[in-house]
Amino acid sequence: MNDVIQASGLTKAYPVGKGKPPLRAVGGIDFAVRQGEVFGFLGPNGAGKTTTIRMLTGLTRPTAGGARVLGYDLTRDVTNIKKRIGVVPEASNLYDELSAMDNLVFSMQLYGVPRRERRPRAEALLTRFRLAERSDTPFAKLSRGMKRALTIAAALAHRPPLVFLDEPTTGLDVMSARNLRQMIAGLREEGVTVFLTTHYLEEAERLCDRIAIIVKGRIVALDTVDGLKAGLHGNTVVEIVLAGENGRQERQRTECRDDGVEAAVKLAMNEARGKQVIAVNTLRPSLEDVFVRLTGLSAETMLAEKGGKGGNHAAG
Ligand SMILES: Nc1ncnc2c1ncn2[C@@H]1O[C@H](COP(=O)(O)OP(=O)(O)OP(=O)(O)O)[C@@H](O)[C@H]1O
Ligand SMILES: [Mg+2]
Repeated sequence: MNDVIQASGLTKAYPVGKGKPPLRAVGGIDFAVRQGEVFGFLGPNGAGKTTTIRMLTGLTRPTAGGARVLGYDLTRDVTNIKKRIGVVPEASNLYDELSAMDNLVFSMQLYGVPRRERRPRAEALLTRFRLAERSDTPFAKLSRGMKRALTIAAALAHRPPLVFLDEPTTGLDVMSARNLRQMIAGLREEGVTVFLTTHYLEEAERLCDRIAIIVKGRIVALDTVDGLKAGLHGNTVVEIVLAGENGRQERQRTECRDDGVEAAVKLAMNEARGKQVIAVNTLRPSLEDVFVRLTGLSAETMLAEKGGKGGNHAAG
């Protein structure tokens, strides 16, 4: 079996008050996550990302539909699922007064890691997450980035084959976010399946094998990044740069149609009518273009509420 998650008709409806229809936070979604991939779950605030993770990790029950996770049925066998997965929630689940080391050791104890393996494994994790020097620091006194790193380390301590990360880089500075992205890429190398939610289109594009875009509790697209882009009509634009008057440059853009890039270049050259051509560029659509087209939302909507906090969504 190559799918580690298979959701079918997965639904969560919250009651909102007498006489009103319940709010369908997740409206009957179907998708599968393949073994070893980084699966991105992308959507604006309130789309249903966290609710989906909470259902798949057994923190809240679906009101309809269900899922198989690591081969176990979510509604009948949730304990077996919980034992085998790692979860990094939006807000950390670690203990403020325990040190970095003790938090890891305690987490391993909960997951039944044999006693003699706990400390060496914790030391290795602290080193890997650049926290070795903060081993004795209470969780509460770590920086935001360190807290996030330790929370992820704790989620990995029992070596789960499947990890859920709910917006791991939101609110982190550029360097911490970059470190975390490298760490996520590293998990993939190790064969760990990663279910990742994020607001950051660029981050999703960089890290994810496949991406589902969820809007108002429904999946509106699910494909590889390239697949999502190819699905855009007129997906490539040919731009020619011409020598204009007074040394200025003019840019002309022509959308490619079904007859492809070459035809678009010919058309563009015709229109240039003897002006000197300085450059011909092909512009591929970004994931942002795809998102805007599919959701009708501006890309800024994705960042509106949370991105402001740390503002790390650029390079890394
Ligand atoms: N415990 C709850 N009771 C009632 N409504 C809830 C509850 N949890 C979430 N919701 C609602 O369900 C919808 C989806 O919320 P959810 O937290 O899953 O969104 P999200 O995609 O994770 O958003 P964000 O990007 O802001 O984290 C929202 O409208 C939210 O208000
Ligand atoms: Mg959320």
